[in-house]
Amino acid sequence: MKILVVGGGGREHAIAWRLSEDSERHELFCAPGNAGTAAVASNVPVGAEDVDGIVKWVRENSPDLVVVGPEAPLVKGLADAVTSIGVPVFGPVAAGARLEGSKRFAKEVMEAAGVPTAKALAFTDAAAAKAALGSFSLPVVVKADGLAAGKGVVVAETREEAERAIDDMLVNGRFGAAGAEVLLEEFLDGEECSILAMTDGRTAVLLPPSQDHKRIFDGDKGPNTGGMGAYAPAPVVEGGMLAEIKKRIIMPVVNEMSRRGVTYRGILYAGLMVTPEGGRIALSGSRVNVVEFNARFGDPETEAVLPLVGGDFAKALLHAATGRLAEGDVSVRDGASATVIIASGGYPGSYEKGKEITGLAEAAASGAVVFHCGTKEDGGRVVTSGGRVLSVTGVGATLREAVDKSYSAAAKIGFDGMYMRHDIAHRAFDRE
Ligand code: AMP
Ligand code: GLY
Repeated sequence: MKILVVGGGGREHAIAWRLSEDSERHELFCAPGNAGTAAVASNVPVGAEDVDGIVKWVRENSPDLVVVGPEAPLVKGLADAVTSIGVPVFGPVAAGARLEGSKRFAKEVMEAAGVPTAKALAFTDAAAAKAALGSFSLPVVVKADGLAAGKGVVVAETREEAERAIDDMLVNGRFGAAGAEVLLEEFLDGEECSILAMTDGRTAVLLPPSQDHKRIFDGDKGPNTGGMGAYAPAPVVEGGMLAEIKKRIIMPVVNEMSRRGVTYRGILYAGLMVTPEGGRIALSGSRVNVVEFNARFGDPETEAVLPLVGGDFAKALLHAATGRLAEGDVSVRDGASATVIIASGGYPGSYEKGKEITGLAEAAASGAVVFHCGTKEDGGRVVTSGGRVLSVTGVGATLREAVDKSYSAAAKIGFDGMYMRHDIAHRAFDRE
């Protein structure tokens, strides 16, 4: 198959890499890609958010399938535009991507579908929002409605902190239009996990559950990041829980979207909070609640999950994109997988770019897969070009083996100021 992957981060490298592992040989393109995708695909010099540019490339090159990585082009209607010229797209139309683009809309869909989630109220007026704080217990969560690059969420321990967050978003316009509406949300107690459900708008296949590590420092301390590592399968999703999640969360949302006239095709990513036995149960009465939906593969979850996905990946994506997805399209491999993000010093604050990266070949030779997140080629050298630079994935028979493989490969890599967490999968190990 001839396939275009849209995006240029670790997630897109993992998608392109997994496609390159299919038994059929594909002709792969990545727009814009990075120094890592160049090893498995041809990079196309068009930005992921340049909808017109991508459509033009698709018209001229007639791929069999377009796979969209990031949310921004989906929210901007890339899938609509590509579908309208008759090319199958893995990734929802804009009306579907709204599940990620508007937290208020996602709440509305969940309410209509009877999906358990934190109780929430939406406001555009700061005084009204502050007055409503009294009906929430502390901590309370204040969220910008729109896309705010993962920074639009404040878990406020005190009423004053919540009021400041409300003013920041509604009065000071901290997130611009994305923060012109805020949600006050019940705080959910527990452990998070990420569910990537592949869907064709009719049925869904859930990939192995994973867990992200959002904070910058070990022990889940410090500010939020895009994600510092992930592993799969995450044991917080016990026994029959995955089937329950499909029945009570994924399918009701897919069906509710369909009832609204939206055939949702692509990944429906559910960020869930699982409350432990004895923890504070949410007002929904359920131990498993939705924190958020994303309209795409997670990053770095994808770098951990896709190495565990067997079968013909291109066929599964194409079937989802064309309404023919079947349970048998995806098989899950035994074993476990872990990925650690290597970041630029200073991230998620300011950091320098252009640092030469060494040890990439040695890391790959040690049996791990090194996905590039923020790199570029510079006169034969590979240099850093982002906050999250590499995602180093190990796969093993056990989670311990996977984590060890990932860290021993990461230890071979070097660049000025590099930083990583050293406790990926700690929650899984704490359970043992
Ligand atoms: P979101 O952008 O909605 O995924 O929120 C970012 C992060 O904030 C989540 O991954 C959680 O760690 C935290 N968070 C968001 N909403 C809640 C909630 N209702 N209760 C507890 N933590 C939350
Ligand atoms: N790793 C979190 C996300 O992709 O949104």
